[in-house]
Amino acid sequence: MDVVEVIRQRKSIRAFRPDPVPREVLSEIVELALRAPSWANTQPWELAVVAGAKLEAIKEALSKPDGAGSLPDFPGPEEFPEPYKVRFQNLAAGMSEAAKKGRRGKQVGEWYLQWPRLYGAPAVIYILIDRSFCEQRSGLNVYAVFDCGLLAQNIMLLAADRGLGTIVQAQAVHSPNVVRRILGIPDSKMILVGMAIGYPDWDHPINQFRSDREPAERVVEWYGFD
Ligand SMILES: Cc1cc2nc3c(=O)[nH]c(=O)nc-3n(C[C@H](O)[C@H](O)[C@H](O)COP(=O)(O)O)c2cc1C
Repeated sequence: MDVVEVIRQRKSIRAFRPDPVPREVLSEIVELALRAPSWANTQPWELAVVAGAKLEAIKEALSKPDGAGSLPDFPGPEEFPEPYKVRFQNLAAGMSEAAKKGRRGKQVGEWYLQWPRLYGAPAVIYILIDRSFCEQRSGLNVYAVFDCGLLAQNIMLLAADRGLGTIVQAQAVHSPNVVRRILGIPDSKMILVGMAIGYPDWDHPINQFRSDREPAERVVEWYGFD
């Protein structure tokens, strides 16, 4: 696929087939994705690619009622002032509508409970940043986080190009201590996001949903173009 096509096609996948993704495929994706730019080429990221028994242990731990055993390393937004609130609400409404459609509509409730199991994904890629670089005297090193976003998008586009689905999941890191404990990652590594990755279950109604976007004229101002 060319880059235009892959950008058009990529979307968050919220129902995966159980088929494992071969290590070679994941390895090629992450190696290419590491070409992402970063502040002064500092490459602030480290990746933990997880599948098999380790991933199952994480899913089990997140599924327990006390799975939220620690605060996220990176707190999410506290408030959604307009226009962000309505966008958030539109997303929730659109997803729940899509999930109700089709023969499998009654699986909606069941589907929603799948988030601690990463929507059934057979692998997850965690993006880590060393605490020494991320927590600076003046506060959070936002450019390290920004750089990791560029890496994440590379991963998602490369995955889509290979017929794989992805979703960045803040939910996957709401208990970073759980992930650190199971993978033996030291506290000095902050866990930014988890990206579930696998082959999409295209028959699942939730995957029929496509999020919308503000039109460019609402969010782009042009200067000096007479
Ligand atoms: C930082 C970040 C965190 C996200 N966390 C979650 C999450 O916890 N659960 C979820 O279902 N989707 C999550 N998403 C996916 C967004 O909801 C999704 O990207 C957005 O609705 C746009 O849809 P699209 O990715 O299909 O284009 C997250 C996305 C980002 C970038």
